[in-house]
Amino acid sequence: MKIFDSRILITLCCTLALSACSGEPDDTRPGQPVAHRRQLFKQFTRTLEPMGMVARERKDFNRSEFLASAQELQQLARQPWPYFTPDSNYPPTHAKADVWLKVGDFQQAQESFQAKTNELATMAQSGNAEQLRAAVNNVERSCKSCHKQFRNDS
Ligand code: HEC
Repeated sequence: MKIFDSRILITLCCTLALSACSGEPDDTRPGQPVAHRRQLFKQFTRTLEPMGMVARERKDFNRSEFLASAQELQQLARQPWPYFTPDSNYPPTHAKADVWLKVGDFQQAQESFQAKTNELATMAQSGNAEQLRAAVNNVERSCKSCHKQFRNDS
């Protein structure tokens, strides 16, 4: 009986530690739209990071890797938006209410971002380091401009 009790205690402590760690509730709703879109945004960052490094620091970069990343980002750029369903403004989202209030503006931000990722993917085929850097910067600016309008910082 004593062993049983301490197991419960350990489980409880672990659960508390885990939720303290993320500080956020899980997305338990059907289809988990918030969790899905956040996952995709994390992939945005993962794809963009090596391209940013390459464009900034090295002229003898690996063009085929750069192209693969640019094309991956181009594909990803279409994916999070369907997960902003009408009833998906709930914790743990960091989206601002304007996503649902200014639907036209949000869509415009998506389209302009997609245009920048298309330009980057095209540029990645033959552009020089200078041009690639500019194209990566344009994409990053587009991320930031949408976040400013539609995402809460914390
Ligand atoms: C059209 C608007 C828009 C664009 C463009 C955009 N984002 Fe976001 N991003 C959002 C919104 C809204 C959220 C908040 C989503 C939520 O919490 O429900 C978000 C969340 C994120 C997050 C946090 C994910 C998490 O763990 O909660 C990261 C990282 C991120 N975006 C990276 C990027 C990067 C990198 C780019 C550009 C390559 C980008 N985003 C472009 C709107 C955008």
